[in-house]
Amino acid sequence: MIYIHLDSIDSTNNWAKLHAHEFDPGDITCITATEQTAGRGRFKRTWVSPRGENLYTSLYTTVAKSFPYSSNLSQIAALACVEALREMQVEIGIKWPNDLLLEGKKVGGILSELLHFEDYLGVVVGIGINVDIDPATLQTIDQPAVSLSQLYPKIWKAEQILNPVIEKFAFYLEKLKQEGFGPLHQLYNQYLTHLHQQIHCSHEGISLEGICHGVLEDGRLKLELPSGEIMLLHSGIIS
Ligand code: BTN
Repeated sequence: MIYIHLDSIDSTNNWAKLHAHEFDPGDITCITATEQTAGRGRFKRTWVSPRGENLYTSLYTTVAKSFPYSSNLSQIAALACVEALREMQVEIGIKWPNDLLLEGKKVGGILSELLHFEDYLGVVVGIGINVDIDPATLQTIDQPAVSLSQLYPKIWKAEQILNPVIEKFAFYLEKLKQEGFGPLHQLYNQYLTHLHQQIHCSHEGISLEGICHGVLEDGRLKLELPSGEIMLLHSGIIS
C-alpha cells in the first residue's frame, strides 16, 4: 500500500487520474487530502470538502481490461465503509447504489472512475465521509446531510477511519476479482436502507416508483412496479 497525503487539492480523484501512470499497477495507492477545493460527487455534483476532520480519499488500483465487475467497484467500496464504521458501532447503511446514510441523511459517498491504459484498466475509487463538519457548512449541502460527530459525539479523526476502510476495501476487491459480486450481493443487501420499501427512483430521466427488492448477483437493483412488472436498474437516484 502506498500512501500520499496532500494538504489542499482540487480533488483527490483528479489528482489520482493525473498521476495514475506513475503508480505501481500491482499495488493500491491511497491519496488523501485535508481539504478539496473542487471536490466532485456523482452526476457532476459538488462534494463540499472543507478543511478539517473529514475523509477525502481516492484509492487507485488496476484490473484486467476484460474485468467484468467494474460497475461493482463502488458497491464494494460502500460495503467496506459500512463494515468499517459498523465495527466502530456506527449504524450506517447504504442507499443504492453507493450512498452512505446515517438516520436517513447523507454522511458519505463514492465516485469511481475508470482509466483506459493499453494493458489494463486503472480504477480510481473516491470516497468522501463527513467526519466532523460544522453544522453551518452542512446546511450548504444540496440534500439532507450529516457528519459522524453530530450523531456520535466523540473526538473523531479522519485517519482512524481510513485504515479500516482500506483494509476492508482491499479484502472485498480481492474477493470481487476472484469470485465476482455474486457471493457479496446478499451481504450488500443486508445494509440497504430501503430494502422492501416503497421508493421513488429517477433513472435515465424517468421517474419510477415501486418496491425495492435489493440487488441481484450482478449489482442491478430489482424494482417492482405497481403493475407487478420487474425493472432491473444499473444506475439511478433513490429519493
Ligand atoms: C457522491 O456521493 O456524489 C460521491 C462523492 C465522492 C466524494 C469523494 S471525496 C474524495 C474523492 N475526490 C472527489 O473529488 N470526490 C471523491
